[in-house]
Amino acid sequence: MKNTVVTFQQAKEKGEKLTMLTAYDYSTAKLIDESGINSILVGDSLGNVILGYEDTISVTMEDMIHHGAAVARGVENVLLIIDMPFMSYQTSVYDAVVNAGRLMKEGRADAVKLEGGKEVCPQIKAIVNAGIPVCAHLGLTPQSINAFGGFKVQGKSEEAAKKLLEDARAVQAAGAFAVVLEAVPKKLATLITKELSIPTIGIGAGNGCDGQVLVYQDMLGMFSDFTPKFVKRYASVGEVMKEAFREYIKEVQSGAFPSEENEYKMDDEIIEKLY
Ligand code: KIV
Repeated sequence: MKNTVVTFQQAKEKGEKLTMLTAYDYSTAKLIDESGINSILVGDSLGNVILGYEDTISVTMEDMIHHGAAVARGVENVLLIIDMPFMSYQTSVYDAVVNAGRLMKEGRADAVKLEGGKEVCPQIKAIVNAGIPVCAHLGLTPQSINAFGGFKVQGKSEEAAKKLLEDARAVQAAGAFAVVLEAVPKKLATLITKELSIPTIGIGAGNGCDGQVLVYQDMLGMFSDFTPKFVKRYASVGEVMKEAFREYIKEVQSGAFPSEENEYKMDDEIIEKLY
């Protein structure tokens, strides 16, 4: 059954946990969709795990549309959320609506996600008014990494915790249908979850949130540049891939691959005429 923003709201009301993973390409998205997950996020984390940048700052609208559209072609049931990249919405309300519209029209998103609290509420309101569902993102917002001075847990002091709670209330009032809480202490994320009527999706925010999201390469053990404390590894796919690559190299070098079962046949008479 197709997941929608209504599914998200119903899950919150029934106390059912929401599940979300990132994806950036057709075949992975298809596998995740078939596994019965609620939502796929085409995160701007693609800057790190797909494009090899050290942060998400360089990710462009074209990157998000290119990967978003590939994911959209692979899914049937998930709520597909595409991230608004750095400087696609911070610059003005007009830019935010135009770029959110492009992610819907060209990337075939069901919803968009953007980072920030009170300061981006005019953008959230305008995008929602244009008929586009918005997921907010608070706590450690990687597009502001230079302002934070690194990847750090957010909301630990009284002042920071108050600000995060106020931001969460503000994005809800602006019309966001959900909010991602990243790298926030469990107690604060649980409090915010209880305060809000929209679902919270945690990543490094403990199990008191209404749902969870992880970057799929992290949970499958496919990305080793850095692994945050909040990641749980569910498989060592990176090792399985390397083992298969090594086996392939060995078999090509020895001539064991391709074998008869991988070959196409033709009549001997035809080939003999060519000599
Ligand atoms: O870009 C991303 O993958 C994200 C998740 C980590 C929430 O924003």
